[in-house]
Amino acid sequence: MNQKHSLLSRLAPFGQKHLLAHWDALADSQRQEFAAQIDGINFAQLATLYTNRDHLIDVVAMVERAQEPPAYRLDSDANAISRSDAIQAGRDALAAGKVAVLVVAGGQGTRLGFDHPKGMFPIGPVGNTTLFQMHIEKTIARGRQCNRSIPFCVMTSPTTHDETVGFFAKHKRFGLAESDLLIFCQGTMPSVSLADGKVLLAAPDQIAMSPDGHGGMLAAFQLSGCLDQLRERGIEMLFYFQVDNPLVDIANEEFLGYHILSRSELTSQVVRKQTPQDRVGNIVSIDGRLHVIEYSDLPDEFATRRKPDSTLAIWAGSIAVHIMELDFLKRQTENKSSLPFHIAKKKVPYIDTNGNPVAPQEPNAIKFERFIFDLLPAADNAIVVEVDSRYHFAPLKNANGSPTDSPADSPESVRKQLSDISIEWLTLTGVRVAPNVRVEISPLFANTPEALAERVNQGLVPRDIDRNTRF
Ligand code: UD1
Repeated sequence: MNQKHSLLSRLAPFGQKHLLAHWDALADSQRQEFAAQIDGINFAQLATLYTNRDHLIDVVAMVERAQEPPAYRLDSDANAISRSDAIQAGRDALAAGKVAVLVVAGGQGTRLGFDHPKGMFPIGPVGNTTLFQMHIEKTIARGRQCNRSIPFCVMTSPTTHDETVGFFAKHKRFGLAESDLLIFCQGTMPSVSLADGKVLLAAPDQIAMSPDGHGGMLAAFQLSGCLDQLRERGIEMLFYFQVDNPLVDIANEEFLGYHILSRSELTSQVVRKQTPQDRVGNIVSIDGRLHVIEYSDLPDEFATRRKPDSTLAIWAGSIAVHIMELDFLKRQTENKSSLPFHIAKKKVPYIDTNGNPVAPQEPNAIKFERFIFDLLPAADNAIVVEVDSRYHFAPLKNANGSPTDSPADSPESVRKQLSDISIEWLTLTGVRVAPNVRVEISPLFANTPEALAERVNQGLVPRDIDRNTRF
């Protein structure tokens, strides 16, 4: 049987023969690559996913049983672990080299109107520092504090991988040791037609693929060898975050400490939701296990419920910052059903069977994505730790002035939030900052208000700042 026939017989049972519509016109080298792409696709899994596309989880039944998650709250004096014990436990773990950091950076800055990996977006309020540089500098600063370098892992996607690798090389990893930077690429899933489940072609010799969601991290972390490499280095836990939040407090000792002392396998940072409509995942406890219910899935009727003290009943907004035990992740990589696929209906350009490009105006396709927070229900002793959103959460999502702009998600509002915090730290030390001046403090200069106060005492900061300044 020739190659075309053997491929056809593989595709036919799944109704995907159309993928070979342009086969005869392909050059031999194109055919080989295309055949390899087809070989890498699990068509039986795709068929099941498509058939079950409308078997949505019954969110109402879930939310009806939802309780508050076990939490370390900011304003509570009833927390079982004291702040100082938590800080000490976190410090000890860092000093013993048990902590690594991982950023998921597979997303393109499309919503930002930025045609590069989002981590390359210049967000510093004064120095145009990129998101990647900020994250690396915070990690180096934390490592210096505990006299131990902290490995930094970056998950890319096929669209962001090469540029990300080149960017870190060009900037000499912003000072991070070569052995401490681990970059690995996530997997992809084919996009299928919404109407009939047929796999879409991006070109005559190319299937329309897209990243398999940040939950793809679990498989990619294992497949790339990074998970085992870190375990061999004695790392026990991973501080996980999203590339789009320049305020993330990387490897915060107190947060690590609550996780360690609670013997939690997965601990999440949350903020108190300000309004029922806040665009964050909601962490709740259902039958003793933690779950995230996305804002888009949470019916208003539940989102607006209040407790007798008038605060929101579903209050814990996920900022997608987690600590995960590596042993737990390892176990989950062996559990095929640990992360389900979610579907997203999207506009995906494709070429039709006549070879004509089609640019749909309405969603025409389904993309399949896994979400990392679906690991939560499997984790033992999972808890949440509340942080103040003003100091910990400034997600960069949309371009300035875009229609979906919310107060805290455009470059301008994020830069202002970063600068305002730096000015607040300076003011605490008695430094005066003139109105309308912007300030940026590199974490390598000072990564806490206390460290900044020391810099001021050392005479490294002027008493009056009257122009935009980066320290
Ligand atoms: C996400 C969370 C939401 C949380 C919010 C906090 C989901 C479904 N929702 O929303 O619960 O409250 O962030 O800001 O995740 N990424 C990859 N590979 C992928 C897809 C995404 O690496 O295949 C990375 C992106 O680079 C980004 C992060 O995951 O760092 C989040 O992706 P995004 O699509 O922006 O999530 P949101 O919908 O904003």
